[in-house]
Amino acid sequence: MRAAQTAAASASQTQTQPRMKKFQIYRFDPDSPGAKPSMQTYEIDLNHCGPMVLDALIKIKTDDDPTLTFRRSCREGICGSCSMNINGTNTLACINKIDSNTSKVTKIYPLPHMYVVKDLVPDMSNFYAQYRSIEPFLKKKDTGESDIGKTQYLQSTSDRAKLDGLYECILCACCSTACPSYWWNSDKYLGPAVLMQAYRWMIDSRDDFTDERLSKMEDKFSVYRCHTIMNCTKTCPKGLNPGRAIGEIKKMMLDYNKEAGAKQA
Ligand code: SF4
Ligand code: F3S
Ligand code: FES
Repeated sequence: MRAAQTAAASASQTQTQPRMKKFQIYRFDPDSPGAKPSMQTYEIDLNHCGPMVLDALIKIKTDDDPTLTFRRSCREGICGSCSMNINGTNTLACINKIDSNTSKVTKIYPLPHMYVVKDLVPDMSNFYAQYRSIEPFLKKKDTGESDIGKTQYLQSTSDRAKLDGLYECILCACCSTACPSYWWNSDKYLGPAVLMQAYRWMIDSRDDFTDERLSKMEDKFSVYRCHTIMNCTKTCPKGLNPGRAIGEIKKMMLDYNKEAGAKQA
């Protein structure tokens, strides 16, 4: 009995021992004169913090430094807002567990090779403009735009299944910003996230514009800057495979060009 009490007392003492952990975070404030990026270190007690990196960021912002700036919304991996680079990997802070090893510093940067608006907030304007450019919505030839939404377009179970692994993308941009081809050509190369969504609409049995969608991407950059590096697939925090989707677009492009050539002959 006494031994059990001693063990319980020592367990509760261990639990109350602070578990101080350092976080080194990228800071950049465009409004401060002569603004230059720097790293700032914060230390928090993991006993008083939730398990995820986003919990740590919220704790730091609430308790230590309200100027620390980052995006977040759902805190459960579905909105894509909290994407950032944590210990060298592009991921979502809300579903990324804090490394419980308190001797290791957790390093947090914004998504790489993006313009930074402030601290961990990247400028997503180019990414969203590229997404808009692929027309990520159902397009029909036999109906006016205004009829879409009023009519039901049925799809077989097997055709619907083809969209699995594609529609789940939350547009967090972790994949695109992990791709070296995108780093160097993000003005002209669409990048894995946007290309996977382009593919999602190309193979939707209800969409009538597959050829037009392919033809729009025939240039040297939009698709063909993908050199199958596969960082995109490795880093996707939702376990999706944008690298495979791009490979499929390339195959479709080949068939499309063959057909176009045959028609001309
Ligand atoms: Fe994010 Fe994955 Fe979608 Fe890329 S494919 S935007 S990493 S969810
Ligand atoms: Fe880049 Fe992925 Fe292609 S990392 S080069 S988009 S396979
Ligand atoms: Fe929504 Fe992280 S807060 S994905």
